[in-house]
Amino acid sequence: MSTKELQEKLIDIMKRWQKIEDATAAQTARAMEQTDNPTLRTVMEVIQRDSQTHRRVQQMIIDSFEKEAVHIRPEEIGKLSETVAKHVEIERESVRLAQEALEALRPSKLLAQKYLINYLLTDEEKHERLLTDLDLIKRGMQPYGGF
Ligand SMILES: [Fe+2]
Ligand SMILES: [Fe+2]
Repeated sequence: MSTKELQEKLIDIMKRWQKIEDATAAQTARAMEQTDNPTLRTVMEVIQRDSQTHRRVQQMIIDSFEKEAVHIRPEEIGKLSETVAKHVEIERESVRLAQEALEALRPSKLLAQKYLINYLLTDEEKHERLLTDLDLIKRGMQPYGGF
């Protein structure tokens, strides 16, 4: 695939994906009309907010081909090195707390709590990964195993 074809393909995928994000927003709004349960409403809010963020990131990828260059240079990451390293530790502490909570909940039937803490655990792991991938990029490595 030529560079131009690859760009066009990615732009097309991102635009289709943005339509899906819009469908997500509609679904969460529909669910929120159908329930007063605070836990279920919170889940829908979380998905709605994430969907808005996904849309922004997809737009950034589109813009990277159509407008300004999107880049992260190693030296730009380098400037944040200390802050990011400290932050990784904090995210890891979050992951440990989530694991500790899940471990404590294991013998119980507190399903709603398990469900919510599992969500938090996944998110905290994601934050850690976002930061550690930055470090790999800074060191000139491929974070995605060549993919
Ligand atoms: Fe999404
Ligand atoms: Fe976090």
